[in-house]
Amino acid sequence: MDIWRIRGGKRLEGEYRVQGSKNASLPILAACLLCPGTVELRRVPRLRDVDAALEILEHLGCRVRREGDRVYIDASGVSSCEIPHALMERMRSSVIFMGALLSRCGEAHLSLPGGCQLGKRPIDLHLMALRTLGAQIEETEGEIRCRPAALRGGTILLPFPSVGATENAMLAACAARGETVIRGAAREPEITALQDFLCSLGARIRGAGTDTVRVLGFTPRRRARFVIPADRITAATFACACAGCGGKISLTGCDPRHFSTVLYFLNQAGCAIIQKNDRVTVSSAGRLRAVGPVITAPYPGFPTDAQPLLMAALLRAEGESLFTENIFECRYRQVPALRKLGGSICVSGREARVRGVERLHGAAVDATDLRGGASMILAGLAAEGETLVRDLGHVTRGYENFDSCLRSLGAELYLTHEGENHGLSFQVP
Ligand code: UD1
Repeated sequence: MDIWRIRGGKRLEGEYRVQGSKNASLPILAACLLCPGTVELRRVPRLRDVDAALEILEHLGCRVRREGDRVYIDASGVSSCEIPHALMERMRSSVIFMGALLSRCGEAHLSLPGGCQLGKRPIDLHLMALRTLGAQIEETEGEIRCRPAALRGGTILLPFPSVGATENAMLAACAARGETVIRGAAREPEITALQDFLCSLGARIRGAGTDTVRVLGFTPRRRARFVIPADRITAATFACACAGCGGKISLTGCDPRHFSTVLYFLNQAGCAIIQKNDRVTVSSAGRLRAVGPVITAPYPGFPTDAQPLLMAALLRAEGESLFTENIFECRYRQVPALRKLGGSICVSGREARVRGVERLHGAAVDATDLRGGASMILAGLAAEGETLVRDLGHVTRGYENFDSCLRSLGAELYLTHEGENHGLSFQVP
C-alpha cells in the first residue's frame, strides 16, 4: 500500500513542467497496434496505467522498450488478439484495445473489467459504434468476443459524446473499407491527439475537436514518431494545489486552453492567472472566494476529473461553492475524507455544497480513486498539521513523481510504503 505523508501549511513557489497526458497516452498506445513496424513515442509519463497498457501490448506480441520518457513499440510481430482478464482488470480504459485489435487483427477477445470506482461505466456505446462498422460482437458473462468480420465504413451516431467510444470507433474505422462518419463525437483534446497520431501513421482523419469526425480506411505506415501532449488534468491539479495552499507557480509545456474552465474558476475565486504561450502562472493568497455553480460536462465544459481537485482548493474559500456532477454517478467519493480534514460539504444527489471553513486540520484518510486521492493530498497540503493518505495505488495510476514534483515547489509530502513508517509523525526520508 502507498502512504502519502503530508505536513501541510506550506506555500507553493516555483515551476513545474507538466507531465505527458495519461488519457492521451492510453489510446495512442493501443493505436500502436495498427503499425506493422515501430512507433517512437516521446513524453510518455511513467504511470501505473501506462505500464498496464505496455504489458497488454507485450502480451499481444509487441516488443516494447522504454528509454527515459521515450517508448518504442514494435508491433510487427503481433501474435494474439486475446487479452486475459488479469491484464484487462488493471485499468478501465483497456477497453480501447477492442477497436485497435479489430483494426489490426479483424478480431478481438477480451473481458470486461469488473466493479468500478465512479459508478456504472457501461460500454454499450462502444459496442454500438463497432457493430455499426460491421463487427460481430458476442457478450457472455463479462467476456467480449469480436468474431472475424470485414469492417466497412458507416455513420455512427453517438447519443452521448463518450470519449472511449469515440476512440474505439476511430481505431476500428481505420481498417474499415470506405468512409466512417462519427456524429456526436467527443471533442476532448485527447481525441485530437489520437487523430494527430493516426495521421502520423498515414491515416486520413479529420474533424477531431468538433462533433463530427470522419475517417477513411487506410494502410498504416511502418514507422511513426509522436510526442504526447501535456496532461491537462495534472496541470489543473497543480493549479488547484497552488490555489488552496497559496503561493505562485508556473506550469510550463502545457496548453492553457485545454484547462481554461478550471483556470476560469480559480480566477473567479481570487487567483491571478497569467497565460503566455505554453505557460500559465497561478498566484494565490491562500484564502479564496467561493465560486459556482461548477457544472461538469463533456469538453469544452468543466472536466469531471477536475471536480474533486477544485473542491479541495475551495474548502477554505469564503462563502459557499456549488458543484453539479453530470458525468459519473459516484464522483463525490472524496467527500467523507475531505470532511475528516475539516471540510464542510453537503452532498445531495448530483449537487455538492462546500461551505468554506477557516482552517483544515490533518487526518488519516483513505484514497478512493485516482482524482479523489489527489484531492485528499491537495487538502492535506492546505491543512494544518500532518495528513496521511492510505492509497491502494490509485494516485500513481495518473501522477508521475507526484511527491517529488510537489516537493520541488516547496510542499512537504512523501510517498512511502506500508511498513516503512506507520506513525502519523513522519520522518523525512
Ligand atoms: C474518459 C477519461 C476519464 C474521464 C472521462 C470523462 C480516459 C482513459 N478516461 O473516460 O478520465 O473522466 O473520459 O471525461 O480517457 N457511457 C455510457 N456508455 C458507454 C460509454 C460511456 O453510458 O458506452 C457514459 C459513462 O457511464 C459516463 C459518460 O458516458 O457516464 C462518460 O464516459 P466516457 O466519456 O466514455 O468516459 P471514459 O472514456 O470512460
